[in-house]
Amino acid sequence: MEITLESPLDMHLHLREGAMLRQVAPLSARHFAGAVVMPNLTPPVDSLERLRAYRAAIMEAVAPFTFTPWMTLFFRPYPTATLAAARDEIIGVKLYPEGVTTNSAGGVRDLEAVEDTLAAMERLGIPLLVHGETHGFVLDREAEFLPIYARWAKRFPRLTIVMEHITTAAALELLERFPNLAATVTVHHLLTTLDDVAGGLLQPHLFCKPIPKRPEDRAALQAAALRAHPRLMFGSDSAPHPRERKEAAACAAGVFSAPVALALLAGLFARHDALANLQAFVSDNARRVYGVTPPARRVRLARRPWQAPERYGDVVPFYAGQTLEWQVTDVEP
Ligand code: NCD
Ligand code: ZN
Repeated sequence: MEITLESPLDMHLHLREGAMLRQVAPLSARHFAGAVVMPNLTPPVDSLERLRAYRAAIMEAVAPFTFTPWMTLFFRPYPTATLAAARDEIIGVKLYPEGVTTNSAGGVRDLEAVEDTLAAMERLGIPLLVHGETHGFVLDREAEFLPIYARWAKRFPRLTIVMEHITTAAALELLERFPNLAATVTVHHLLTTLDDVAGGLLQPHLFCKPIPKRPEDRAALQAAALRAHPRLMFGSDSAPHPRERKEAAACAAGVFSAPVALALLAGLFARHDALANLQAFVSDNARRVYGVTPPARRVRLARRPWQAPERYGDVVPFYAGQTLEWQVTDVEP
């Protein structure tokens, strides 16, 4: 069995900087024609100058692959003029509540105070990307954030709001209520639950924010992805950390899935007889939601067992050392 995908896209990706960027960027660029690049560096990407330098570093790291890094600015209460100047160079602005995840210390403390900026983004047609978690009990954080999405979706009906890395059936229900909401979902949230992370021996390489939830949440996410819900997009949230930051007493959050993501998705869609919907889930939905055109690149996958590497440099990937049913067999650079 085989499938050829036209320009697969990763609509939520952490590429980091420096040596880590050079290590991981080619792995994404090999399989994906473009990706939405997260701005949670230290310090965050919150100026056009920094954004341009970061984009240049990414372009250098992904050569020779043809790959579009769609850049995001880290949410600040930017003046309208700043947003207007940035508009043509960004795909959106990423909002993190303060302290909810890796490198979000400079995030938003008062969610009531952002609305002037959201109004300006709506006028300018700049999408809002959100890490939607509160500071509540860890399993409830996403559910507690849903009323905030609902309020913004209602107040700013022409603002595209992307609920990043959704993990619950409740988030999918909210997606149905507002046409200006879209969402990304990761491959690890399609394949794991909290049991995989902490039900047996603790698995630091599966630990991420938001934490994977219950079997019924995973089932709902799978059903929506497998039918290629038109406003649900693949976003890996591939988030590499050096091994010593994961295999540690205080383990950093993030699953490094970039090199295995497409193969795992092909396996999942094939097992459910849904391969025909994979193109929409990994590319077409994102093109429509964001109105973007990626570079034309074909990526072929085949049902042929493959063992995922134990490491890429000092980063341990999702499914390290395990056998995957599918593999990427051919890529156009
Ligand atoms: C991400 C990271 O490491 O940057 N970590 C994660 O667990 N997903 C940040 C994020 O997207 O929350
Ligand atoms: Zn992320």
